[in-house]
Amino acid sequence: MSEAISDNKERLQKVLAARGVASRRACEELITAGRISVNGVIVTELGCKVDPAKDELALDGSPIAAPPRLRYILLNKPAGYITSANDERGRRTVLDLLKGVEERVYPVGRLDYDTCGLLILTNDGELTNALLHPSYQVDKTYQALAEGQITERELERLRRGVRLKDGMTAPAEVRLRRRDAKGSLVELTIHEGRNRQVRRMLEAVGHPVLHLKRISFAGLQAGNLPLGSFRDLTAAEVRALQKLAYGDKKGGSK
Ligand code: URA
Repeated sequence: MSEAISDNKERLQKVLAARGVASRRACEELITAGRISVNGVIVTELGCKVDPAKDELALDGSPIAAPPRLRYILLNKPAGYITSANDERGRRTVLDLLKGVEERVYPVGRLDYDTCGLLILTNDGELTNALLHPSYQVDKTYQALAEGQITERELERLRRGVRLKDGMTAPAEVRLRRRDAKGSLVELTIHEGRNRQVRRMLEAVGHPVLHLKRISFAGLQAGNLPLGSFRDLTAAEVRALQKLAYGDKKGGSK
């Protein structure tokens, strides 16, 4: 129906079904019954093609909105921001950092107020649920500066699992990066997502965390993205996340 020549035209019943109006067959019936309009004009032929990005569709006169664009954002979170959408104490939230992002995106999991580093935000609720499902938790790597000089024995305890008040932690990968006057710099890769887990693990072996940064989530890295900045994930990064979340069932088909 759009005047402009466009390569993006699709059959009306297909677009209606994709917007959740009804099944494709039931959408055909709505069209032939004269209940669908395109740019204000009732259309009753099934051969009609529309441009979903430009043409305005309505059912019985009520607009049928296009679904929001799926957005996948990687933020390098600074300390001093909370990871929920609002805070009763009026603290700044990570959403305050997403200037110019119009879609309502939500964090995939959380980072503490004082933790910095990689945080994914998206409006793809299905992917978020799959990535956070307790039956399948993705790998997350943290770099922690911990107080004092951690010993090889304590590192081994972290690797095997330590007892926290909510139970033993699962085996983790733990690497010592540096031990000096500032403390011990330790990298931990865990797949669980318990509240303040890394801080509690290090505290349990006698080395409270002074500074905590997430450096990797599900294989993604912040690279040289400045603290407080964000970028959209590339199509390949989104496909990799989908593959992790859904296996081969859905990866790359979205
Ligand atoms: N573990 C923590 O202790 N804090 C975080 O923010 C993330 C993991």
